Amino acid sequence: MDGASATRTRPVNLILLGPPGAGKGTQARILEEKFGLVQLSTGDLLRAAVAAGTEAGKAAKAVMEAGDLVSDEIVLAILKDRMADDDVARGIILDGFPRTEAQAAALDALLKASGQTIDAAISLEVEDDAMVERVSGRFTCAACGEGYHDSFKTPAKDGVCDKCGGTEMKRRADDNAETVRTRLQAYHAQTAPLIAYYAGRDSLVTVDAMASITDVEAALETIVKRVAG
Ligand code: AP5
Repeated sequence: MDGASATRTRPVNLILLGPPGAGKGTQARILEEKFGLVQLSTGDLLRAAVAAGTEAGKAAKAVMEAGDLVSDEIVLAILKDRMADDDVARGIILDGFPRTEAQAAALDALLKASGQTIDAAISLEVEDDAMVERVSGRFTCAACGEGYHDSFKTPAKDGVCDKCGGTEMKRRADDNAETVRTRLQAYHAQTAPLIAYYAGRDSLVTVDAMASITDVEAALETIVKRVAG
């Protein structure tokens, strides 16, 4: 964990905005390890609900497989549940949330109720064409969730997770080229307007996420240290 986490006197709350493949999950996991913040990925929470066969998961499954957005009602219920957990008090990195203006307004209200706010909404700026390749080549360790890519981030030993030694790798059902294009369309239609929403609140920061994973990591580290004060 980095020195900045030890000196922080209040929680730092960050949003990672960006289309599928922008690197939200990759960077959220790095920030979690470095600064002790908690990654809250609505995609992961929804996939867990689908796997558990809950009512919310049953309703979300087909929508996610098609690449469309799950209803605000379902997503907000799942996120509110998670935000009630104690660890969230350490500060959060929202990965894949909010995705609509209604979700952004609900988040503002939720944080305000506990006297908190968003310290930075970080827009990971990328080119759509490259995202299809990034997402189609992605795979993760089934045991610990560490993310890899066929070209950009391969395990040191083929088929073995660098982090936990797991040997089962998995790919997401919605990571095919056709669904990625639908997900990109959903991003531009429903989520990209949030860039103006957070710019209007003076909390927007943009990062060139076409750069390498380590360069993006360095840019985010600078931002976290600045907002942590
Ligand atoms: P979600 O799970 O949030 O997926 P997503 O937004 O489509 O984002 P991804 O996880 O695909 O991409 P990422 O930005 O995390 O990229 P990653 O770091 O893995 O959502 C899935 C679905 O759930 C949605 O379609 C929707 O149906 C539903 N949903 C979720 N939240 C919702 C909400 N709030 N409201 C409504 N519906 C919701 O990187 C991708 C690959 O690229 C990796 O292999 C990585 O190694 C590689 N990579 C990362 N950075 C770089 C780099 N800088 N250079 C080269 N390679 C890189």
